[in-house]
Amino acid sequence: MAGTQEEVYRASTYAPVNIAVIKYWGKKNVELNTPTNSSLSVTLSQDDLRTHTTALCSVETAKDSLTLNGKDQDISGARTQACFRELRALRKELESKDASLPKLADMKLKIVSENNFPTAAGLASSAAGFAALVRAIANLYQLPSSPADLSRIARQGSGSACRSLFGGYSAWEQGSQADGSDSAAYEVAPASHWPEMRAAILVASAEKKDVSSTAGMQLTVATSPLFQERIKNVVPKRMKAMEKAVHDRDFESFAALTMKDSNNFHACCMDTFPPIFYMNSTSHAAIRLCDAINAAADKTVCAYTFDAGPNAVVYYLAENETQVAGAIKAVLGDKTGWEDKRGQSIKAAGTPLPNT
Ligand code: DP6
Repeated sequence: MAGTQEEVYRASTYAPVNIAVIKYWGKKNVELNTPTNSSLSVTLSQDDLRTHTTALCSVETAKDSLTLNGKDQDISGARTQACFRELRALRKELESKDASLPKLADMKLKIVSENNFPTAAGLASSAAGFAALVRAIANLYQLPSSPADLSRIARQGSGSACRSLFGGYSAWEQGSQADGSDSAAYEVAPASHWPEMRAAILVASAEKKDVSSTAGMQLTVATSPLFQERIKNVVPKRMKAMEKAVHDRDFESFAALTMKDSNNFHACCMDTFPPIFYMNSTSHAAIRLCDAINAAADKTVCAYTFDAGPNAVVYYLAENETQVAGAIKAVLGDKTGWEDKRGQSIKAAGTPLPNT
């Protein structure tokens, strides 16, 4: 049955932000968006940092469209188109098996997304964005797909998005198949396995980054000899060690691996030619602050990590809230912003941290 004129089909979903502790950086196949190495992340609380997306379609929808926080987005790019194409193909398959289903795959899609965090702050918005887009359309199409199936599609929108299809601790297995069919995310452990994990977000700059992840990582792959060492000898060992640290709830190991992997990733950015500088002097001050907090505690109580931008995410355990968030607050004074219920997210937009 084709949809009738007045019928509007709709589904909504949320997807959370995830912050990698073993970083994805480098594409093996640009078209399929498969990575040169596996990666692992912590998904942050959906209550606080998330994209809410509604997917609609009707016979009267004139064209595919996407708005983010009320602004029209360009959807002509190959990545968004790949997500639409794959999801429509799965819906077509369902419709071909059951003639009573409305022909949604032939209708245009209207996607409406809202981020509940500042998009400009560079907080992994594409990860939550594509994860929500794919799941909203999959819900609209009533696809029987698993989160792993959807992660394979979301990966084509933005690599890091595939990990946001899972809560808690999730990994993206790089895969070995030429068609990317085994390059998908899986759950390492649910959030309930280690619910004491907290994340503080230090916004060093809310400005948009000058080199996008997509462009930056391709330049790194093409020019950095250090990067070759990273993907061959560094990351594979760290992935195993990080999975073990999560399974064992071993914060000392988790933290050491997190900080070392962030450092190694940014060293590869520096080794790119011409070099890419994502961190700035505020970021360096945040590293020194974490070092000082750990030294004062005489053990590792916090771990910094930086994505393709200057903002720090600091992981710590709830039991060390006073030591870590307290020390950060003491240094930042009352320049705090929104809060993440899984931790305290401390925003100091535009306010340089003092050098420590
Ligand atoms: C540094 O997922 O944004 O945040 O696949 O080109 O969209 P594309 O890249 P993207 O890169 C994220 C890079 C990172 C590390 C990470 O999240 O693992």
